[in-house]
Amino acid sequence: MNIQQLKDTAAAMVAPGRGILAMDESHPTCNKRFEKLGIPTTEDKRKEYRSMLLKENDMGQYIGGAILFDETLRQTTLDGQPFAERLQQIGIVPGIKVDKGAKDLALHPGEKVTEGLDGLRERLAEYYQLGARFAKWRAVITIGADIPSQACLVANAHALARYAALCQAADIVPIVEPEVLMDGTHDIDRSYEVTHAIQKLVFEHLAEQGVELEGMVLKPNMVVSGYECSQRAGVQQVAEETVRCLMSTVPPSVPGIAFLSGGQTDEEATEHLNAMNQLGDELPWKLTFSYGRALQQAAMQSWNGDSGNIDRAARVILHRARMNGAAAEGKYTPEMEKAA
Ligand code: 13P
Repeated sequence: MNIQQLKDTAAAMVAPGRGILAMDESHPTCNKRFEKLGIPTTEDKRKEYRSMLLKENDMGQYIGGAILFDETLRQTTLDGQPFAERLQQIGIVPGIKVDKGAKDLALHPGEKVTEGLDGLRERLAEYYQLGARFAKWRAVITIGADIPSQACLVANAHALARYAALCQAADIVPIVEPEVLMDGTHDIDRSYEVTHAIQKLVFEHLAEQGVELEGMVLKPNMVVSGYECSQRAGVQQVAEETVRCLMSTVPPSVPGIAFLSGGQTDEEATEHLNAMNQLGDELPWKLTFSYGRALQQAAMQSWNGDSGNIDRAARVILHRARMNGAAAEGKYTPEMEKAA
């Protein structure tokens, strides 16, 4: 393990005013989003779409790292350049999703555990050769009447820590993603309780497996009310509760925390991040974004599967990246949307 390299990679991923672009949708997830817009679910369309996302050279001003899916890391862009090379060219660290998805947790109806540890050592070695310098593993926690169970929290925390240790042994920075889903009728207090429980457990397991906190990035959910909650908390409360939770679970040696968007609207995700960075608290870590949908959805609609729309759609994602880059420094205002 080269700890200095891990630290340098993590620092580049969450550099000031920059965040992470999650463009690592598995085939089923990507197909679902394409089908909604009537876009053919072919390898060529995925390549065209993902080339569009990285077309603007200025993306590197706001994006420090981009998470790719296995297929994309092996593809070339429309210009014939390997995706990892294109990312390096515009100053973005290439990353790779390495988990094999959330599967049913045995004996625990309604709960998931993420699989993919078998053979991971060998896959990481190959991904490094292909240019990846960080990885992502997503654990999924569902809030319901009697869930999550302790069994689900422990199984996922353990797998995240085993994954993180394997990454660091391969000189790859692990993004550790314990995602508490935002679906449900629960209120913000319940979201806090579950988010706190999983984060606390994750750091216990990371310590047990010897993971160097200086060489990782945490990717958590924000503490929000469930989408079906009758009284949803506002932006300020979400910002305060999320930071309060992180302050009590995340050691200061972690260099960066990059949030998932989890189905929030584009502007909601930007406003929440901005509000956290405006709290005025002395925070020990960078607070930034690692959004999938909240960075991509407007651009995907603008492209709509038509190669004639590539230039316009590339400017749409550049705008979203710029807004979130500003939010990562607490400098976003809704007026900036209109000005564009
Ligand atoms: P969303 O921002 O769309 O939630 O996706 C982020 C991600 O990478 C989930 O693993």
